[in-house]
Amino acid sequence: MKRILTGIKPTGMPHLGNYLSVIKPSINNLNYDEEDCYFFIADYHALTTLRDAKVLKEYTYEVAATWLACGLDPERITFYRQSDVPEIFQLAWMLSCYTPKGLLNRAHAYKSSVDKNIENEKDPDHGINAGLFSYPILMAADILLFKANAVPVGKDQIQHLEMAKDIAQIFNNHHPKTLTLPEGKLNPNSEVILGLDGRKMSKSYDNTIPLCCSEKKLHKLVKGIATDSVDRYAPKDPDNSTIYHYYKNFTSPTEAEKFHAALRGGMAWGDAKEELFQVMNTELSPVREQYEYYMGHKDTLDNLLADGGLRAKKTAKMSMFLIQEGM
Ligand code: TRP
Repeated sequence: MKRILTGIKPTGMPHLGNYLSVIKPSINNLNYDEEDCYFFIADYHALTTLRDAKVLKEYTYEVAATWLACGLDPERITFYRQSDVPEIFQLAWMLSCYTPKGLLNRAHAYKSSVDKNIENEKDPDHGINAGLFSYPILMAADILLFKANAVPVGKDQIQHLEMAKDIAQIFNNHHPKTLTLPEGKLNPNSEVILGLDGRKMSKSYDNTIPLCCSEKKLHKLVKGIATDSVDRYAPKDPDNSTIYHYYKNFTSPTEAEKFHAALRGGMAWGDAKEELFQVMNTELSPVREQYEYYMGHKDTLDNLLADGGLRAKKTAKMSMFLIQEGM
């Protein structure tokens, strides 16, 4: 069976953009019968920026609860916390001794921090920790320890994946056929989801719709979407409106087309927002309910993740044994 593996960085409750561009397509795309899937929460990757253990723990719960609420079936995949598998960190050190430093110098995230420092006339490495610098190595260890064949990621992670392949190749040059080279697999729907202000939805722009916010808050946020102030019943331009952009992600193409036509025919923005809220809420209500259930039963989350951790550890131990044998 082909092994699919992907990591999810815990950054707090996911928003609608994460849901539409990553979570929903990833879950819909799972093929439990033909693929052996490993999904994990990359909690130690978050340590490059997050220092508070309590916050990290809470973020991990929020992310785990969201994926489960959206339909991830923990019985049929291996769902675990990275920190529960210490062999990953063991392999990361080994790989770091094979990784040319120059390769890491070229990583986008590191380079952009350096560029920012230079721009601000600071030391190039000001405020940059070695964890951020070697982030790609830890990610390579996540992937290579489990002999992943395919790694579904967003566009922003392609470079990391290429680096994982490069690192595996160098390791294999010394120890033939020890590591499996992973293939990248772009997430099926990489559409950029817009935020409430029309820019890309992102926490750093403060323009998000939190995925599991209350019904009341969802209503308020949808009602507050900025629209152009044309005559109430004037024809609208759906293709340049955030309202239609969201709507088409929650309905069938036929429904979306009807909505498109109605807007062009002069449906008032207020009525359009009401319709949008209805379709969103219909899909998100059960997700919200499940999310709240898990967040109120953290022991259940702990048990699920611990169980996945045990299964992952079994694979990891065997794999580490074989890597050491191959050296
Ligand atoms: N770096 C990824 C992100 O920020 C998360 C991640 C960590 C990951 N390890 C991974 C993704 C291994 C795929 C495979 O989104």
